[in-house]
This record gives sequence, structure tokens and C-alpha cells, in this order.
Amino acid sequence: MNNVNLGFLLSMAAEALLDPERPFLQGRESAEEYLKRFRVNDPEDIETVLKTSLRFSEFQEIGLYHKSGLFNTMVDYQHGMPMLPQALSPLFGKAMTEYFFQLYDDINFPNSPNPTFLELGAGQGFLAHDLVAHILSKSFGNEKRVTSVDAFRKESKFIITDRIQNSLGLLRRELSDLLEDERIKGKVEIQKLDALDFSLGQYQYGIIFANELVDATPTELIVNMGGEYYSIRVLPLNPNMESEEPAVIKKLSSSIGVKGIVPEKKFREALENGYSDQIKFVPVFVPLKYDKFLSHHAARLSSVRNINSDDFGGIYPVSIGLHGLFTSVRRSFQHGVVVLIDYYSFHNGHHNWNKAVNQFRFYRIGKMDIDFQIDPQQVTEVASKNGFEQVSVQSLRDLVSRHTGLIQDFEMNDLLRWATANRQLRGKQYPEIILRRGMQMAYETLISIAEGYAVMTYKF
Ligand SMILES: C[S@@+](CC[C@H](N)C(=O)[O-])C[C@H]1O[C@@H](n2cnc3c(N)ncnc32)[C@H](O)[C@@H]1O
Repeated sequence: MNNVNLGFLLSMAAEALLDPERPFLQGRESAEEYLKRFRVNDPEDIETVLKTSLRFSEFQEIGLYHKSGLFNTMVDYQHGMPMLPQALSPLFGKAMTEYFFQLYDDINFPNSPNPTFLELGAGQGFLAHDLVAHILSKSFGNEKRVTSVDAFRKESKFIITDRIQNSLGLLRRELSDLLEDERIKGKVEIQKLDALDFSLGQYQYGIIFANELVDATPTELIVNMGGEYYSIRVLPLNPNMESEEPAVIKKLSSSIGVKGIVPEKKFREALENGYSDQIKFVPVFVPLKYDKFLSHHAARLSSVRNINSDDFGGIYPVSIGLHGLFTSVRRSFQHGVVVLIDYYSFHNGHHNWNKAVNQFRFYRIGKMDIDFQIDPQQVTEVASKNGFEQVSVQSLRDLVSRHTGLIQDFEMNDLLRWATANRQLRGKQYPEIILRRGMQMAYETLISIAEGYAVMTYKF
């Protein structure tokens, strides 16, 4: 998993297009300036940082999920850029469903019990919609899958969930036709659920899945600078603030050359009172051993050694919520499969350097995403510690490519679904042949982007 792909180039182009004011973000290269300046080695300064700053995952929680955070403020949900389940609708959902048929057929569970589908972090609901719609449709890629098709269609229940209110409204809208469909009346449920801590009772057999969830869950970052490991903390600053600072804060200010350090508590007060706009942030680096929480966590993960590979380039994201996700699944299901799809890190951690370090130059709460490209090996390690067995880790491009044959059977309603999912086509009418060609061309590009995504499958 170590290649510069089209997806990477397109995502960089998209970043530049989204905000032409923003200079190019150059991964570790442009992070060097921060690394030199904001590395804190003096024990007294380290203590001050630990007391005044936010841990990265806390900062991320605010940036994404506070009432003024990205997921609650963006009208178009994620910065207006459609994610793959939407842009590749309905093929993405259909391909995933075919994959679930295959898993259900290939992995033997006691008496083939009725499956309960659970989507975590469903967002706007494109994947959930296209999955259920495909199960109800007549065309399947493989007619041999009669047992699974029958089980899914007649016996399944679909629990579609997210943690934020904003998403629940979008889900109800996106799934409205299926919620009313007589064939599955009462079988599709939309629920508010924390994917990292839930308990649904004890279902027999679950098909649990999520697209781009892990990258939006609490992450801590470890950085390797000249062989020393550091934890990234986030320091709020208000350069215009005139107030008496305790001596230790003055000392830290002069050590790292910044003005107006706002202690964490004060920052949270400003946030609640709606005055956080003037606050800026800098990443500061403290030796990992002083950050007891993260060093403890990291010591239990052998995958942290990947930090020095070309895929990570010296920055390593630790997804601290994974254990909670897998234990919650075990609490709620006796058996089943978990399928997680997420961007993986490559090209020397370029994306992660930009998100964890470089973007602070411009960062404003609620305006920018704080997502990380993950390590599938870490997911597998945490899964296996919780009694899950890896079935496969494959690229989403390979998985979807295996099902492009479905496209030739697309009916007009599938083409219209694609057209409505793609905002720029909404409300316009095109002849079928133009729609079909446009869709195929868009799919070709998007399927190549999907190379950057790992589909991680575990059974239990
Ligand atoms: C990047 S979006 C992906 C949305 C959707 N799966 C898609 O592919 O379009 C991440 C989603 O995960 C949700 N999320 C993040 N943390 C969560 C948690 N702990 N429990 C449930 N949902 C969560 C967010 O609210 C958001 O809707």
C-alpha cells in the first residue's frame, strides 16, 4: 500500500480548488517549521503544556462534533464534497450488498441465522439506501446466492445509525421511500448511536459496517523527530488577549515564541459563550513518555512501528476508540462480520501531516475537517485482541471493480438515482444515453480513487 495514486492527486487538486487562498500543503516538508519551533523539551514547559493544552482527540472532538463543529455546521454535511457512497451511488451500495451476500454464503454460522444489519456513522445515508434498495431489487450479480438473497430480503432488520442529530434528519430524508415501503415496513430503523460505546441487546448474527467512520473518531498522533517520539498537543492562542499570565505560562510563551496562550479551561468557556472565533491554535510536541495516556496506549500497539514506513513518514495516528467499537459489537451480537472502510495512510503520511500540523495555520472551528488516514494493521490488531478474526483487507477499488458487471443491468431508476445523488445534475433532465455515458465516465475516475480505501473485514 505504498503508491501515489490518482485519488491522491485528485484529493490534492480538490483541496486546492476548495480554498484557492490556501497555499499548497506539503506534508512533512511544510511541517518542518512547526517541528523545529514547537517542540518542547524543558520539563517545566512540558508540565505547563500538559496542563494548558488540549489532547489532540479532545481538540478533534470539538472541531467536529461541538455545536459549532464541522459536522453540525456544514449545511452540505462534509465540506460539500460528496463522499464515495454518494458520488458512486448506487453502484457502491450494490457492490457492498453483493459482498455481504458472499460473506453470508462463504462463512458458516450456526444454522444461518437471520442477519441484522447495523450501519455505524451512516452520515447522510447513501450507502444504507442503496444497500436496502439493492436487496429489494430483482437483479443480482450472482443468481446462485438465492439463500442469502432470501434471508436478507425476508428476515433482515436494518439499523442505520449515527451519533449526531444533524445526520439523523438527513437519514430520515434519504431513506424516506424505504421507510414507507410495504415490503420492509418496520424493518428499517434509524437510531442515534455512539459507535464506540453501544449495547443493542443480543442479536444472533450481525452484519456491521461503516464507511469512513474510523477516520472521524478520536485520534491521537505520535511524531518521530530525529529518532525521538513526541505526542502532538494543541495549544489555544488569543494573540490579542491582554491579561496577567502566571509565570509558567509566560515562560512557555517565550520558549516557543507565541503570545496569548489560552488555558484549556478558558478556551472551553469561550467556546460555550460563542467567543471562540478569535482563538487560534498551534500544535506543540511533547516527548511521548511525558504523555502518560498516549504512551500507555502506544506501548500496547505493535503496529506503531509502522510510523517509520514510507506509508506513514514519521507521523502515526492512534485511533483510541477502536477498542470501544469492537467491544460494543461483541456486546450486541453473538456472531457476524464487521466491515470497515477507510482511507489508509500512504505517501509518507502527507495527508496526516497536513491535518495534524500544517492546517493549524488556517484552522477555524467548524470550517475544516480533521480526519486521518488510518493504519489497517492497527484495526486488525485491536480487532484480534477483542476476539475477531481477520477475513481480508482489500482495496475498495478491487471490491467495486468485481461488481461493475451490475452496471449493464442498471435500469432507468438506477440512472436517476445516480443523477440525483450528484448535486450538479439535480433538477436537470438528460436523455438516458447521455446519463449512462456520464455515469460510466464518472464511475471510472471514482473507482480509481477507491484504490486509497481499505475494506477491512473481520468475523467473530
Ligand atoms: C466522514 S463521515 C462518513 C459518513 C458516511 N458513512 C458516508 O460515507 O458518507 C463520518 C460519520 O461518522 C459519524 N461518527 C463519528 N463518530 C461517531 C461515533 N462515535 N458514533 C457514531 N457515528 C459517528 C459522523 O457523525 C459522520 O456522520
